[in-house]
Amino acid sequence: MSDEDLSEVTSQQNAQRSLLVLSGANLQLLGSRQPEIYGSATLDDHMSAARDAARGLGFSLESLQSNHEGDLVDAIGQARSVHAALIINPGAFTHYSWAIHDALAACEFPIIEVHLSNPHRREAWRHLSVVSSVATAVIMGLGASGYPMAVRAAAALLDTQQPGLAEASTQE
Ligand code: DQA
Repeated sequence: MSDEDLSEVTSQQNAQRSLLVLSGANLQLLGSRQPEIYGSATLDDHMSAARDAARGLGFSLESLQSNHEGDLVDAIGQARSVHAALIINPGAFTHYSWAIHDALAACEFPIIEVHLSNPHRREAWRHLSVVSSVATAVIMGLGASGYPMAVRAAAALLDTQQPGLAEASTQE
């Protein structure tokens, strides 16, 4: 096997155990942003909890936060060949970013959409997620538990190779 082939195999094996967590607009402010809604944990706190959960399940975890839609679209496009699953809280992009929707639609791995709050209990404009229809699963309203839970969900989907229910029902 050539060095190039070997490095391709190694990067594929690493991708099998690597998760990416993307955070969208204003989530860098967690901890001080409306703590009565989003809690007192910072984004770093959430990512540490997610990383600990991932490590316990034999996964590595990378994370990126951006207030710029295009950065997230780029990261999703690149994640397709680097990571095994994606966890995403797009922040307010959730409610209108068809560019993020399309980027996610092009992914073939599990996608877990996470919200700290439950947008359905809030203003009407938050009730639409343009991301949920291309996510494998959605976790919302569980605050700080949401990210470790999303990691466990992604790991379970990968380790059992189960399709999400949407795919399962279309395969019948
Ligand atoms: C959020 C909910 C969104 O409606 C909001 O714009 C956010 C955070 C959540 O985690 O609860 O920025 O995604």
